[in-house]
Amino acid sequence: MVSSNNNKDMVVTPWEVTGEVDYDRLIRDFGTQPITSQILKKITDKTGKLHLQLQRRIFFSHRDLDTVLKLYDEGTKFVLYTGRGPSGPVHIGHLIPWLFSLHLQEKFGARLYFQMTDDEKFLINDNINLQHTKKYAYENALDLIALGFKPDKTFVIYDVEDIDLLYDITLEIAKRITYSTAKASFGFKDSTNIGWVFWPAIQAAPCFIHKKLTGENVPALIPAAIDQDPYWRVTRDIAPKLGYHKPAQIHCRFLPGLGSGGKMSASKPETSIFTMDSPEVVKRKIWNAFTGGKPTAAEQRKTGGIPSICSIYQYFFYLFEEDDKKLFERENRCKAGEILCGECKQELFFRLNKFLEEHQKRRERAKDVIEQYHIKR
Ligand code: TYM
Repeated sequence: MVSSNNNKDMVVTPWEVTGEVDYDRLIRDFGTQPITSQILKKITDKTGKLHLQLQRRIFFSHRDLDTVLKLYDEGTKFVLYTGRGPSGPVHIGHLIPWLFSLHLQEKFGARLYFQMTDDEKFLINDNINLQHTKKYAYENALDLIALGFKPDKTFVIYDVEDIDLLYDITLEIAKRITYSTAKASFGFKDSTNIGWVFWPAIQAAPCFIHKKLTGENVPALIPAAIDQDPYWRVTRDIAPKLGYHKPAQIHCRFLPGLGSGGKMSASKPETSIFTMDSPEVVKRKIWNAFTGGKPTAAEQRKTGGIPSICSIYQYFFYLFEEDDKKLFERENRCKAGEILCGECKQELFFRLNKFLEEHQKRRERAKDVIEQYHIKR
């Protein structure tokens, strides 16, 4: 099973993330590379100021990012590939790799292939039908478009509808991955349905679709959280056998939920902020959030709070405070007991709502243009 479950508390697979995630350990267990300052320098040379998610090492690990940058210098472009399993509404954790993909699209002029895995979520979940996943594939695409991707460079693949585009590539991939490798990589059991066993070949296919569509053989760079890594490991092994570049990855950390520990996850709606949440709902969730505060205001003023365990602080760190100096100030004032949790919650509520209000408007407008993003337009 590809999970780092030597540590009893931590499980990281494409379908389950539990326990306290130890990112250094994942780099070792998964065999990925840390993003070094050398790589950051190379990126800065090309993009100007580093994106917040790199600057704060929210994207912290990679496979072959250096190779992709080198090829780029030599004149071989790359395409971006990422995706979503549309089992329900999008939460703001999902936006982390998408916002970063948008940045890369803008800076490198790269095409993005975006896979909506309405088939995957149907196969792995006993309680949802295809109608449900197809509906959310559409809904989730609105969230993607609302972020500002350009239609001429963005190609959304809805698996069930567009499988004919992927099928020949999928077959070439599936033929070269043994059941034993799949079992070791994904933890399949005798009780796993055979659709799910075959399915990883479908998530691998968009890595190579650019060549089929354009004739250009360029590498794909995949921004995603590190839970998706098992897919790429098996795909990278077979890519050269099929005459493709190995797909490269850049992995991010998980935006935590609003509880004490654990990633933001749709299965825990009360500690997740969904893009369609109303201000009242956001307020309730933020007010119930786990913080690094003390039991009483008097005690907190005296001994200070603990930002490192505070879920509210994490939101400023990941998304809602771009200014390092101000972030640092907030941290120090919290530790010194100069601000209380109510103040941070109020400020986050304000910023989050502003973001969601704008996002929801753009999402509404996306309904008029969604077809322009469909790979089969
Ligand atoms: P899914 O729908 O589970 O997640 C979509 C994307 O969001 C990332 N993610 C998070 N990132 C930061 N913080 C979080 N709390 C958080 N939760 C989820 C995931 O890593 C993912 O990048 N099988 C995939 C769909 C897919 C895909 C891909 C994803 C198809 N092809 C290529 C990435 C790249 C899935 O179910 O993702």
